Amino acid sequence: MYAIVIHPALRGGESLRLPEARLEEAVGLAAAIDLTVVEADVVQIGQPRPATLLGAGKVEEIGRKLDSVEPRPGLVIVDGALSPVQHRNLEKAWNAKVLDRTALILEIFGERAQTAEGSLQVELAHLDYQRSRLVRSWTHLERQRGGAGFLGGPGERQIESDRRALDDKIVRLKKKLEDVKRTRTLQRAKRKKAPHPVIALVGYTNAGKSTLFNQMTKSKVMAEDLLFATLDPTMRAIDLPSGVRAILSDTVGFISDLPTELVAAFRATLEEVLEADVIVHVRDISHPDTDAQRNDVITVLRALGIEEDDERPIIEALNKIDLLSAEDRSDIEAIARARRSGPDEHPSRRVAISAHTGENVGDLMDAIEDALTAAHETHAFILPAPFGAARAWLHSRAEIIDEQQAELDLLLTARLSLKTQGQFFKNFPAARLAPEERAAYKSA
Ligand code: GTP
Repeated sequence: MYAIVIHPALRGGESLRLPEARLEEAVGLAAAIDLTVVEADVVQIGQPRPATLLGAGKVEEIGRKLDSVEPRPGLVIVDGALSPVQHRNLEKAWNAKVLDRTALILEIFGERAQTAEGSLQVELAHLDYQRSRLVRSWTHLERQRGGAGFLGGPGERQIESDRRALDDKIVRLKKKLEDVKRTRTLQRAKRKKAPHPVIALVGYTNAGKSTLFNQMTKSKVMAEDLLFATLDPTMRAIDLPSGVRAILSDTVGFISDLPTELVAAFRATLEEVLEADVIVHVRDISHPDTDAQRNDVITVLRALGIEEDDERPIIEALNKIDLLSAEDRSDIEAIARARRSGPDEHPSRRVAISAHTGENVGDLMDAIEDALTAAHETHAFILPAPFGAARAWLHSRAEIIDEQQAELDLLLTARLSLKTQGQFFKNFPAARLAPEERAAYKSA
């Protein structure tokens, strides 16, 4: 299908990100759903119009552009948020289907969903989106009719019944989703039994996560120059340099302006990230907007409850160094090195790599291993009787190294993160850390 893509740029709006780069991203998103983009433009907006967002002149100009292309494009992508009214008015003015950014992302998610859960979530998000359009256009109509002094015309009844049909569908979908989630939780619990640490790859769309995933696992996961090649997390076992086995998890690519309702809908696909022991943030360091992309990813992580100063380590993989000029490349490598040896409280948290050539990927593996060891410590705990619940709690969340009954108490040695340790003491205040001499007690 032929399409025109426009990126509306509010004058005095963004400073971090170039409108041209955003337009390019939108074109990339369109290509990801097999659209042929025949024309792409940044449209400057001085004052957003409530009825059409764009000024009347611009609307006409784009209409003429549509007429001038053979065959006439049936679709205009407006890379921004459109209100339901603007949406309808633009479709009417251009005699073409219009997708705003949310709708476009929904289309892509829909096409790329690989698991039952992914598809259900997309469908749900889609229905929510449709429903919000229905409801809002309904209130809009009602307001128009208000003056005329009658209620309940047939059009209104139609919308009301459409809305009810959507509601029913939403309820059914949510139930199905719950079932699928339950199965997934069971599977995850099974995986947890094997005490492998989990490494999650996150990053802006097209940053190179799948390529890095392949490089690290030497497996063949779909990696292509299409955005969102990976909607659902893909997991593989990998062996770290020391031989420790870990689970590597690839996640869906992040993207700017991801509507909050989508963040919520896709939270489950990112649940692996919440449980990860180490997060590797893959960045396309060769992209002109690399800093803005970094901020976007961090914002989404924060919305999920993952903070930078969390004790869970986040390693930045500064990817695509092979695309840099020699000069830029040595700058980036210097930044990575400085972080590695500097007085920074997070040493070794940046590694310059090329997922494509495999350069320095070994260093990244080392950094992951370092972070994993730093994050987990071995402690001996004294669990006073009755210790059944505390013991079960630790067994489900920590790597148990040793257990000894000491009179009525249980002396349990486990490897766990500081955070897990904190949670443990909150849940079981009677438990305490074994003092040094207890270690001797233990071996006696
Ligand atoms: P999403 O699935 O959209 O989130 O993308 P992704 O982050 O998984 O990116 P992917 O691995 O699919 O890579 C995107 C594009 O960048 C592909 O064309 C890769 O070949 C390319 N690429 C990835 N890493 C590198 C690299 O280190 N150097 C170069 N030159 N290209 C790379």
